[in-house]
Amino acid sequence: MKIVRQKSDLRDLTHTWRRAGETIGVVPTMGALHAGHLSLVEAAKSRTDRVIVTLFVNPRQFNNPEDLAKYPRTEDSDAEKLAPFDVDVLYVPDPDQIYPDGFATTISVAGVTEGLCGATRPGHFDGVATVVTKLLLQTDADLAFFGEKDFQQLQVVRRLAADLDLKTRIVGCPTVREEDGLAMSSRNLRLGPDARDSAPVLHDILQSAAEALSRGAPTTDVLDDARSRLVAAGFTDVDYLDLCSDPDLTPMSAATGPGRLLLAAWLDGVRLIDNVAVQPT
Ligand code: PAJ
Repeated sequence: MKIVRQKSDLRDLTHTWRRAGETIGVVPTMGALHAGHLSLVEAAKSRTDRVIVTLFVNPRQFNNPEDLAKYPRTEDSDAEKLAPFDVDVLYVPDPDQIYPDGFATTISVAGVTEGLCGATRPGHFDGVATVVTKLLLQTDADLAFFGEKDFQQLQVVRRLAADLDLKTRIVGCPTVREEDGLAMSSRNLRLGPDARDSAPVLHDILQSAAEALSRGAPTTDVLDDARSRLVAAGFTDVDYLDLCSDPDLTPMSAATGPGRLLLAAWLDGVRLIDNVAVQPT
């Protein structure tokens, strides 16, 4: 696996692969890799000839400077975790390769960014959309792999790729969970032992609410009950718990078609997100 830091070096490699008729897959990440990220790498390996993993902690998508400062930076151990997967390139762009002096362009996706994390994290999706557009163009990827864990982000990326006529096809991959159901996330490491013990109820509560909604139980009652259960389990704030249509994420008052139940809530000072499918039965 080559570690590449300059886009000109990356371009030399992608040009060589292209001339040989090979396809390229990319897995964009901010590092601190865990099994969720590695499942995307496996998916990419099974579908494209060449695989690039990108590692860039993107300052423009952090709406809170403290969160950016606290973000783990673990390039060496990330490279070790990737070793068994036979990835071609770990692209760790120097910051000026993404945001050169004078950089003045923002990709801003409307609609799908307006609720959920878009409402509670102003500017976040502009930062995501801008960096992802650059990474897809720099890597010249045919396929790009994103996790359903960040369901709204996945829909934002699908929208921008379609709207900007990018050639890259976006592939969504299922959320990887710990054995107790907690969605894998680098943030889980910030939970104290008691909070880590209670964190899995988040997925249990989401699952049972999704089942009730699928059976046609009244949405307000189901969501109120889920919120009370979260508070009883020690969650301090629920940023949102919303039933939305899949894939455009408009709010739904009842599960009348394919939907998604999405949640962001705080436990022990850590903001956790998760989501599950809601299918009317
Ligand atoms: P990061 O949080 O590092 O996540 C990188 C990719 O891994 C995203 O597509 C995310 O959805 C996926 N992922 C994270 N946890 C997962 C899990 N438990 N199961 C499956 N997939 C999981 O998301 C970002 O970085 C950034 O916003 C990025 C897209 C790289 C742009 O900066």
